[in-house]
Amino acid sequence: MHTPFTDNQDKAFLRKTMMGPNAMRITEELASYLPISAEMRILDLGCGKGISSILLAEKYGVTVYAADLWIRPEENAGRFACVGLDARIFPFSVDATKDIPFLPHFFDMIISVDSYQYFGHDEAMLPKLLPYLKDGGLIAIAVPGFNEDFAEGQVPEVLKPFWTPEWYFYSSNWWKALWEKERGIEITILREMDSCKQAWDEWLQSPNPYAQEDRKMMEAGAGKYFNIIQMVGRKR
Ligand SMILES: C[S@@+](CC[C@H](N)C(=O)[O-])C[C@H]1O[C@@H](n2cnc3c(N)ncnc32)[C@H](O)[C@@H]1O
Repeated sequence: MHTPFTDNQDKAFLRKTMMGPNAMRITEELASYLPISAEMRILDLGCGKGISSILLAEKYGVTVYAADLWIRPEENAGRFACVGLDARIFPFSVDATKDIPFLPHFFDMIISVDSYQYFGHDEAMLPKLLPYLKDGGLIAIAVPGFNEDFAEGQVPEVLKPFWTPEWYFYSSNWWKALWEKERGIEITILREMDSCKQAWDEWLQSPNPYAQEDRKMMEAGAGKYFNIIQMVGRKR
């Protein structure tokens, strides 16, 4: 069985499956702050090629519902079978801004790594997701962002050739203010993640054309403005 794992990461597997800063490394740090136990059902929202789901299922023995918009569930199913985790990770296709095909109170946790910024920058998203969580359940996100706020479009010169609004990069204060609008959760963790630099460095080694582009940006010095923000909220 081919079993990638962060203590001894299978670099070839990860280089093929990363879609941004190494999500397996980020998920490992994110999960280390969460009270995860094996009987839990976790929604991995915006799982991409599922490396966060693999980490959760393999390390914690949880059942993961691996949801994504751009990556077909058939592709992810093949990958989960390859690593022997197809009995614990269930891939499906979802657009988080539309219907989510689960009953209320189904999940113990919702996790989202390097994805929430695309759909969750809209204040309508958090109240939409909360009904799917059990009472007291956690929503935990890790989003790449900026370590300070920049006025609309006023990013530093070094970022200008690369930045677009579709990055949805914000500061931790911006995310905090967004989630504080929602009365149905209490923010329990807001921090900058230690794995930021290493996760970016690992992504830049990927043959993915987007990583090649990002390498130019990082060589120009953009990285000093980047962080990865971890935010966790408990459903009241
Ligand atoms: C940069 S990729 C990261 C994927 C993966 N989490 C990782 O870190 O490797 C962003 C992911 O967000 C997902 N995404 C964007 N908008 C979405 C939406 N509305 N609903 C569900 N997923 C979405 C995409 O399908 C894509 O896989």
